[in-house]
Amino acid sequence: MKSLIEKLEKQHTLSKEEFASLVASNEANDFLFQRAVAVRQEHYGNNVYIRGLIELSNYCKNNCYYCGIRAGNTEVSRYRLLKDDILSCCEQGYQLGFRTFVLQGGEDIYYTDDIMTDIISAIRRQYPDCAITLSLGEHSYDTYKAYFDAGADRYLLRHETANFHHYSQLHPQSLSAENRQQCLYDLKRIGYQVGTGFMVGSPYQTPEYLAEDLLFIKQLQPQMVGIGPFIPHHQTPFAAFPQGSVDLTLRLLAILRLMLPTVLLPATTALGTLDPQGREKGILAGANVIMPNLSPVAVRKKYQIYDHKICTGDEAAECRFCLQKRIESIGCRIVVDRGDAKQYKEK
Ligand code: 5AD
Ligand code: FES
Repeated sequence: MKSLIEKLEKQHTLSKEEFASLVASNEANDFLFQRAVAVRQEHYGNNVYIRGLIELSNYCKNNCYYCGIRAGNTEVSRYRLLKDDILSCCEQGYQLGFRTFVLQGGEDIYYTDDIMTDIISAIRRQYPDCAITLSLGEHSYDTYKAYFDAGADRYLLRHETANFHHYSQLHPQSLSAENRQQCLYDLKRIGYQVGTGFMVGSPYQTPEYLAEDLLFIKQLQPQMVGIGPFIPHHQTPFAAFPQGSVDLTLRLLAILRLMLPTVLLPATTALGTLDPQGREKGILAGANVIMPNLSPVAVRKKYQIYDHKICTGDEAAECRFCLQKRIESIGCRIVVDRGDAKQYKEK
């Protein structure tokens, strides 16, 4: 395994078979994490970037089998934030040192292009020194372009799984891997910094599918990659499936760091949900981004895409300082910075 890890660090890629065996193995974890942290430090030092997550809406027209806020879940108490709510989240976030705002939500048809571009341009005007990241699902090229022209810089859209058959096992027929991947290429073409990603341990996943995910990511060359363990939600068709593995998630974070040395890699809330030290462990496996919640506490519990999500009762300021302590406890520091991706230069 050690030689595969060395090869990955040198060549930044492996064959599908090699990736699958690296993913399936549990050997040389210490070496893998140590190389990943060395590469992170080479490019970003001990800096950890924070993104203020604003969960716009838990209305969603889709019915992904894994997601707690799927349209078919009639038990969810639905909410959406309006422009003024969102601007006050940004104001609070700015005071706390956030210089990236992430507007994330279900695919909520309330937000027409006019409504959304009005929100984006208001944030752009008030916070010219901040990055605006959107995570609003699949839209047309023209919609993405309108958001971009209104001032959005970045877009997060996990590809979920690169394997078309696996995609159809996780989603209803109305959704396709083909369209999702097309969205990602549209976003790149428009000029967004793009983030993609997948769940670790989603139902029916195999090491071969994970190898395909890694090769898809290598080809797409995103600036960001978000991965987290699958966590079952009790009101979904996948309620009875087992949760993903924290150790495998850490291994994949390290592999991603070696594959894309300058990638922005969050230690996700899902990782922190399955292990109280999960986010710290993520950073010690090569991650360099944390995305705490800025949503109003009144709606936090309603944005439950999986069970037992952490930080749903905490004010933004509490999370901000809790994280500061956590990050400092592992020898890193949170920086007040947009945290743009660095360009990788071959040595
Ligand atoms: N467990 C873990 N992650 C999930 N996501 C959705 N549902 C779950 C779940 N049950 C992830 C998906 C989605 C992102 C916003 O959250 O990958 O893209
Ligand atoms: Fe939210 Fe620790 S990060 S309470």
